[in-house]
Amino acid sequence: MRLFLLLLLLMPLTAAAASGSSDAVPGRDEHSYARYDEVRIRHIFLDLDVDFDQRQLAGFAELHLDWKEPDARRLDLDTRDLTIERVVAADNEGNWKATPFQLARAHPAFGRRLSIQLTQQVPKLRVYYHSNPAASGLQWLLPEQTLGKHKPFMFSQAQAIHARSFVPLQDTPAVRFTYDARITAPTGIRVVMSANNDPAATGEGGYRFNMPQAIPSYLLAIAAGDLAFKSMGPRTGVYTEPGRLEAAAAEFADTEAMIDATEKLYGPYRWGRYDLLILPPSFPFGGMENPRLSFITPTVIAGDKSLTSLIAHELAHSWSGNLVTNSSWRDLWLNEGFTSYVENRIVEAVYGVQQATMQQVVDQHELLEEMKELPAADQHLVLALDGRDPDDAFSGVPYTKGEWLLRTMEQRFGRARFDAAIRAWFDANAFQSASTADFLKFFGERLFDATDSAMKPSEIAEWLHQPGVPQRAQRAQSDVLDGVDRALAAFVASGDAAALGAQSWITGQWLHFLNGLPADLPAQRLAALDAAYKLTGIGNSEIAFRFYLAGIRAGYEPMRTALRDHLIEIGRRKLMVPLWTELAKTPENKAWALEVYRKARPGYHPIAQGTVDAILGYRAP
Ligand code: BES
Ligand code: ZN
Repeated sequence: MRLFLLLLLLMPLTAAAASGSSDAVPGRDEHSYARYDEVRIRHIFLDLDVDFDQRQLAGFAELHLDWKEPDARRLDLDTRDLTIERVVAADNEGNWKATPFQLARAHPAFGRRLSIQLTQQVPKLRVYYHSNPAASGLQWLLPEQTLGKHKPFMFSQAQAIHARSFVPLQDTPAVRFTYDARITAPTGIRVVMSANNDPAATGEGGYRFNMPQAIPSYLLAIAAGDLAFKSMGPRTGVYTEPGRLEAAAAEFADTEAMIDATEKLYGPYRWGRYDLLILPPSFPFGGMENPRLSFITPTVIAGDKSLTSLIAHELAHSWSGNLVTNSSWRDLWLNEGFTSYVENRIVEAVYGVQQATMQQVVDQHELLEEMKELPAADQHLVLALDGRDPDDAFSGVPYTKGEWLLRTMEQRFGRARFDAAIRAWFDANAFQSASTADFLKFFGERLFDATDSAMKPSEIAEWLHQPGVPQRAQRAQSDVLDGVDRALAAFVASGDAAALGAQSWITGQWLHFLNGLPADLPAQRLAALDAAYKLTGIGNSEIAFRFYLAGIRAGYEPMRTALRDHLIEIGRRKLMVPLWTELAKTPENKAWALEVYRKARPGYHPIAQGTVDAILGYRAP
């Protein structure tokens, strides 16, 4: 279900980093200026105001430090487009003193190093600052860009390296900290964070948050707007704009059952509550696993729970990612591959094996298509980022190829043994970061280093460090989708849409069918499909997106208005970037796209704007 390739190709290329941001010190994260072998942030207190008029977060971040190196006297932080007003440091007697600081030259992706030179190893310091209206990690929406149209909205998206655009910190998944916060906002605006949200809080004197579990910076999250809350179960609830509350609570009613199913497989959920925040449709991702409060696109509210595997995915990160965290973005597969695997196991437990298998078939098909166009090095599970922005190497590889490796291990070693090993992995590394080397050591000892192992280290190495998918890997197979393949072939030949018998198809069948349409399908075939099944304007965004993609290729005009609405409404990259890309291929379509984009652009997230600007060659007037 992923068409990341196009995203990847069309991401504006950030100037190649001449040198890694940490000056390529071995063992340090190449995407952070932090010298976390010398000093680490242990806790953060945020005292911030959400200022919708200035479009900024303003206040201070108090950083509590753990010094690791006796001679260290300097703290290097990551920042991007932050205005630093002053830095004060507390000595051991608790006196605050102004402290000199220096902002280095800006790197386009990594931002500016903030160096604070100290005379002693202070226990804590405060950085007074405010963010920039164009912060890459925040989106500010005007009231008219919300569902309710009366109140503004703001949300953050920190992964991979955007936390530094709204908090000065050590922006690397190798460092974990607890946090608490006091956040003020205008009356009538509720603030929520990746922390202990209280639906009864009024916000008088500021909203208060506490996050007692240590998290990496990319899981720091905040949102503010006209948010209502509805409980869905003992541990689960949903926050969203009032006009979306009932639909969201009904769509995601299985969330509690998903937690129960995951706990049976992988041990207790360790984060207290699990709530969902349903954002406006400009949210650039499907979901983001912010701890205790996953951020979710409203485009998965299809009305029939058919796209709720996204919730299974974000929930699964509570084990794979949030509990056991990739130690750098090179090892993203440890987060996303494990999570895609766990997601599929949750879908199997809650919705049945048939649906889980269909999803595997669709994902594997899309991965193989995508890899045809990917540079070989980006097809390795372990990514060679070499100073690139991690956003630029984003693809379906860490997700689906990672899931495929774990599925293969399950098949070879047997489910019981494999499940026990995965559970032990989560327990052994809980609240820590792990690398691919750690993975090899852990699963080597338990599974593949044995002389009679069902899977040899050399085969694992092929998955990790070679392009493509190893020859011996088994493709997922679904009888139901084999039936769709036969129906598809007959339809392409005959054009008889009624003969498809697709009235009773579930989403997985439609996705597989639409993915299989030939690129040179004539427009009248789509007209027949549309007449029989009303695909133009369909409420299921995943089906609609694939139908519009086929429609652009075939020159099927009657869907234009619905396509236009889709592009203006939806800022989720996966559901719009491939459409802009397809439109940019002919001069007429490109001219039309530019006109639509002028309407769509103001509603897009800063990172989505950058991507689409590059595709269409758009220059702001
Ligand atoms: N953590 C990711 C989103 C992400 C990845 C943001 C890398 C920035 C950099 C999230 O869990 C995710 O994978 N979302 C997917 C959903 C999914 C079901 C594959 C998405 O947004 O499409
Ligand atoms: Zn994920």
